[in-house]
Amino acid sequence: MARKRKGEGQTALVTGASYGIGLDLAECFARDGYSLILTARSADALKDVADKLSAQYKVAVTPVARDLGSPGGGTTLAKEIAAKGLSVDVLVNNAGYGIAGGMADSKAEEQLGMVDLNVRALLELTQIYWPVMLKNRRGGLLNVASTAAFQPGPLMATYYATKAFVLSLSEALWKEAEGAGVHVSCLCPGPTTSRFRERAGTGKTNLSKVGTPMSSMAVAKQGYRGFQKNTRVVITGARNRFLARAVPYLPRKTLLGIVHNMQSPV
Ligand SMILES: NC(=O)c1ccc[n+]([C@@H]2O[C@H](COP(=O)([O-])OP(=O)(O)OC[C@H]3O[C@@H](n4cnc5c(N)ncnc54)[C@H](OP(=O)(O)O)[C@@H]3O)[C@@H](O)[C@H]2O)c1
Repeated sequence: MARKRKGEGQTALVTGASYGIGLDLAECFARDGYSLILTARSADALKDVADKLSAQYKVAVTPVARDLGSPGGGTTLAKEIAAKGLSVDVLVNNAGYGIAGGMADSKAEEQLGMVDLNVRALLELTQIYWPVMLKNRRGGLLNVASTAAFQPGPLMATYYATKAFVLSLSEALWKEAEGAGVHVSCLCPGPTTSRFRERAGTGKTNLSKVGTPMSSMAVAKQGYRGFQKNTRVVITGARNRFLARAVPYLPRKTLLGIVHNMQSPV
């Protein structure tokens, strides 16, 4: 008789699953037998991912194209999921974007859009599914923050602040879930190969010249393993871990100067 896979009987909702880290996280869950609900704005890309993963891993995959950044986007998505008769055991809050540049030169809709997607939609979905997880005593939350979460980010201020929110919320919920049979992990990648840089406009900063970005699958695998072990914070890559852990020991003014330099154009 075939051995039962770890995720069989559970469903993971992955946001931002059309490309990048979210797509690879979806694959990690599919490999272990989780059914999937995948969401992002690009309907065609989502359908391609769903077809590939369901064929390769023999799991049910339901794509639902939605703009999570629009007001009430998370609630609309949850209603659509319920209307399909589906439930969610694991919520992977991965959809997000950043925009580089000084505040004075920024567009209000882009700054507020980051808050809407990276913070508000993440919280909206968490509020909907968290009580269900606690009641069922299973599943959990895998939130994607960033190494940006560990310090303020001059020249990318709003993005860094949104990721600090994600890290803070995740660590608090990890504690609230202690002993409840529910896992909470906050995945904090450093620079990673995906479409992120293209949208963020970070391709010409000093930071982009330092080191080689990790592959999105390497990041996803570390995040997935961390979630299975209920690791509170998963920082990908030895260099990123070292730098993030050094932050509390640096004088704040020095730290702000370093990040400002890293985010400055080459
Ligand atoms: N790449 C990096 O260097 C890096 C480093 C640290 C943290 N991160 C974080 O990792 C997460 C994933 O980013 P990524 O690097 O994989 O970037 P990506 O390749 O740009 O993927 C972003 C995903 O989010 C979806 N998305 C964007 N806006 C959306 C919206 N309004 N509604 C619903 N879905 C939306 C995108 O799909 P559609 O365009 O089809 O909507 C896509 O599937 C983000 O939270 C990002 O902040 C990335």
